[in-house]
Amino acid sequence: MAKTSKLAILAIALCAIFQATAAQTTHVVGDELGWLVPPGGPLAYATWAAMQTFTVGDVLIFNFTTGDQDVARVTKEAYETCNSTNPITLITTGPANFTLDSIGEYFFIGTMDRRCTLGQKLAINVSAPGPKPSPVPPPPRGPITYTIGDDLGWLVPPGGAIAYATWAFDKIFLIGDTLVFEFINGTQDVAVVTKEAYEKCNTTNPITILTTSPANITLTTKGEHFFTSTYGGHCELGQKLAINVTASSSGTANPPSTSTSPVSEGPSGSALPPVSSAPYRVGAGFLVTLFSIAIVFF
Ligand SMILES: *[C@@H]1O[C@H](CO)[C@@H](O)[C@H](O)[C@H]1NC(C)=O
Ligand SMILES: *[C@@H]1O[C@H](CO)[C@@H](O)[C@H](O)[C@H]1NC(C)=O
Ligand SMILES: *[C@@H]1O[C@H](CO)[C@@H](O)[C@H](O)[C@H]1NC(C)=O
Ligand SMILES: *[C@@H]1O[C@H](CO)[C@@H](O)[C@H](O)[C@H]1NC(C)=O
Ligand SMILES: *[C@@H]1O[C@H](CO)[C@@H](O)[C@H](O)[C@H]1NC(C)=O
Ligand SMILES: *[C@@H]1O[C@H](CO)[C@@H](O)[C@H](O)[C@H]1NC(C)=O
Ligand SMILES: *[C@@H]1O[C@H](CO)[C@@H](O)[C@H](O)[C@H]1NC(C)=O
Ligand SMILES: *[C@@H]1O[C@H](CO)[C@@H](O)[C@H](O)[C@H]1NC(C)=O
Repeated sequence: MAKTSKLAILAIALCAIFQATAAQTTHVVGDELGWLVPPGGPLAYATWAAMQTFTVGDVLIFNFTTGDQDVARVTKEAYETCNSTNPITLITTGPANFTLDSIGEYFFIGTMDRRCTLGQKLAINVSAPGPKPSPVPPPPRGPITYTIGDDLGWLVPPGGAIAYATWAFDKIFLIGDTLVFEFINGTQDVAVVTKEAYEKCNTTNPITILTTSPANITLTTKGEHFFTSTYGGHCELGQKLAINVTASSSGTANPPSTSTSPVSEGPSGSALPPVSSAPYRVGAGFLVTLFSIAIVFF
């Protein structure tokens, strides 16, 4: 009897572990963009996919209006050539849920008209479930100055909210780093807001508003920080940034300070503030992305 109940406890414990590791994530393809011909071409869904981790058991939601779009799972070849003749599966009713039930690559396209050719296509890699690798603590470094959006600056981005998410995606933000928002005085502002206000684009009661450029904000606390603009419609159109401050910067003679920003020296009119080379390379990639988006846009 005692043995049986021990076994039962073990079984329950194993189930609990399995459940914890097999927790499924729901991914809304393209987030607010939904599933359509994206304004930025195929890069939009490639960028979105690069920001996700897909695990067996996860669910994709293709959010579209029935009749306006559809979604087909296809082979790699059909994905590359936008061949919708013989899809593996075709779903015509939106929003469409798709469960990722095996490891490997998945390819999806819209089959209507020339939508796939114009960028309604998604390729993803699905990995095995299991404990997520624990985040590697960032290597010690001194404070960095980040210019928001790099050369784009702070404005309503051509590609929508995904622009600043892409910019922030692979950057590490530490206490002591400085964010520099550059814009034309009188055309933008910077509102520091709560998570809720950020999500709802509610700029009724921001924590702080900065109205002159450059607006420099030194990060002084760990956790998530949210920024947008109080100008009408700007937040809804994508002028919003969320970052996560994960630790303190270190290894410098300059401890983080609340008043003066630990910024690099440089001519004040220079287009590219001197930052470490890694963020600069990332910035260049970001600009290429936005440039492509802009070409399609204009
Ligand atoms: C799908 O898009 C509609 C319209 O934009 C939105 O109201 C809805 O919340 C979206 N659904 C999901 C699951 O994101
Ligand atoms: C598209 O795929 C179908 C079947 O998979 C094949 O028969 C056809 O030749 C392909 N068309 C092109 C243009 O590659
Ligand atoms: C699709 O997934 C969403 C979110 O998990 C859920 O609310 C909805 O009921 C699902 N729809 C179907 C048809 O399974
Ligand atoms: C999936 O991962 C493999 C191996 O890393 C890579 O070669 C392939 O290009 C990836 N496919 C997609 C769609 O990202
Ligand atoms: C916006 O935020 C203000 C204050 O934080 C609150 O009073 C108001 O109800 C919010 N409005 C909406 C539409 O959520
Ligand atoms: C914005 O205004 C401030 C204060 O008037 C000024 O110092 C700054 O140079 C202006 N910035 C730009 C980009 O014009
Ligand atoms: C922010 O970073 C902390 C520490 O790495 C982590 O625990 C938390 O989940 C992160 N939050 C978000 C929204 O990524
Ligand atoms: C803000 O940061 C910029 C770029 O690093 C720098 O040129 C400027 O002097 C800083 N302004 C203030 C008020 O700290």
